[in-house]
Amino acid sequence: MARKKVAILISGRGSNMRALIEACAAKSYPARIVAVVSNRPEAPGLDIARQRGLEAVAIDHTKFASRAAFESALDEILRAAGTQIICNAGFMRLLSGGFVRKWHNRHLNIHPSLLPAYKGLHTHERVLEDGVRITGCTVHFVRTEMDAGPIVAQAAVPVCAGDTPESLAARVLAAEHRIYPHALELVASGAARVRDEKVILRQSGAAPDTLFWPRP
Ligand code: GAR
Repeated sequence: MARKKVAILISGRGSNMRALIEACAAKSYPARIVAVVSNRPEAPGLDIARQRGLEAVAIDHTKFASRAAFESALDEILRAAGTQIICNAGFMRLLSGGFVRKWHNRHLNIHPSLLPAYKGLHTHERVLEDGVRITGCTVHFVRTEMDAGPIVAQAAVPVCAGDTPESLAARVLAAEHRIYPHALELVASGAARVRDEKVILRQSGAAPDTLFWPRP
């Protein structure tokens, strides 16, 4: 089967992007990267992508007169690259309904919490403030509501005594780097699909397993 053409959207560091690039390096992986796009020209992830020989472009959203104009330029770049699946990897710009609908069920996002808990920013700070013991990360299909949509993969990550937002973020990020390649593999291979706004495995009809990180 032909490998699915993936575009990665970033805004910053790009460590999840790097995890996807590394997964795509295996010939047996069902996806390959055709474009990396950042809405911030200074995103360090752009250089990481270029060093790995990928086409990486910045389209600075501040230079566009409207959200619609930015999104139509983004859509054009994605289509010109032959994109079949979009992966948001630390892409911190909200996309409007028009764009989201065009890429329905072909657009993934990663978020550093166990959704639907802790949508939005500062997830680790809020987890620590609430005294939550288990947190994690989620890869989900993008919908118009922020940080919502059918869940492809989640990893549960313990909150440890003495954690700071930084130490917790680092533990969750390590889990993110495991589940994003796993989730993209499920979607790109066709093993997972959306039915009634839930993700099920084609073979069993069951939801994909939850991962635990670090493994118990
Ligand atoms: C990651 O923790 C990702 O889950 C988060 O931004 C970070 C990007 O890091 N995304 C969101 O909060 C989206 N709502 P990275 O640039 O190193 O991949």
